[in-house]
Amino acid sequence: MGYYDLPAVIDFILGATESKNLAYVGHSQGTTELLTLLATRPEYNEKIRVAALMAPVAFLDRTKGTVRILAAFNGLLSRIAKLLGIYKVLTNSYWIHFVDTTLCEKTAPTILLCENFLFALSGFDRQQFNMSLLPLIADQGPSGASIKQLEHFGQLSNNGGKFTMFDYGRRSNMQRYGTPHPPEYKLSNVKVPVHLHYGLNDWISGVQDVTKLSRLLSNCTVKPVPYPKFMHLDFLWAKDVDKLLYRDMISMIGDR
Ligand SMILES: *[C@@H]1O[C@H](CO)[C@@H](O)[C@H](O)[C@H]1NC(C)=O
Ligand SMILES: *[C@@H]1O[C@H](CO)[C@@H](O)[C@H](O)[C@H]1NC(C)=O
Repeated sequence: MGYYDLPAVIDFILGATESKNLAYVGHSQGTTELLTLLATRPEYNEKIRVAALMAPVAFLDRTKGTVRILAAFNGLLSRIAKLLGIYKVLTNSYWIHFVDTTLCEKTAPTILLCENFLFALSGFDRQQFNMSLLPLIADQGPSGASIKQLEHFGQLSNNGGKFTMFDYGRRSNMQRYGTPHPPEYKLSNVKVPVHLHYGLNDWISGVQDVTKLSRLLSNCTVKPVPYPKFMHLDFLWAKDVDKLLYRDMISMIGDR
């Protein structure tokens, strides 16, 4: 996604708007994509004026909660998926849609279960969560992921704190990369000014991993969202996200 899809999107926008460069705003995996793009195709630095990265994910060494537990079983889970011929998960298929919209319906007794499921993935923040959004969230998501995507994130949380390319196993790594272990993404290739915004209660993109990332980027500012319970999904839909983050973030990007 970082190597092929994102540059296609960027080139399309620059073509359509006849602009030389653009401001990039990403959240979570959207930040991983930009970092992998600039690390592997540094010519794209020219096309990005500034990048605002919310809940940035490169290092996943200190991830907590459900993601950490799943990561521990990463190898096993992906072997099982391959055995069963499953390559995509969390699609908005008929059955998933039926189950999650039913469980998360406004009047359903299970709506708390539904809320806690989201919290268990990414950190708890009841005050900032607008329960009336749940039916909408359940209706539109999840929108699908490939097993390989999840496996790569699992590898990042298990590889001793490195931001590495996909690990195909010794033999395939030799063929693809010429080394038995996957190479690290070269963060020194990221030259654009980057603003990192992180949540103090974010189980996925935690303070330590973000701080580590910030040290490896050449032109970077780091800012916690000024609210102690701010978590991974608050960046998308917290009640006060506008006051707590968006206004500030947009003014940091500047207009042009
Ligand atoms: C970071 O980028 C900004 C905008 O391009 C530039 O004005 C500033 O001098 C850069 N800072 C460093 C430390 O390179
Ligand atoms: C919560 O979401 C509903 C439905 O979108 C919206 O009408 C309401 O203004 C939101 N409340 C707050 C406090 O943001």
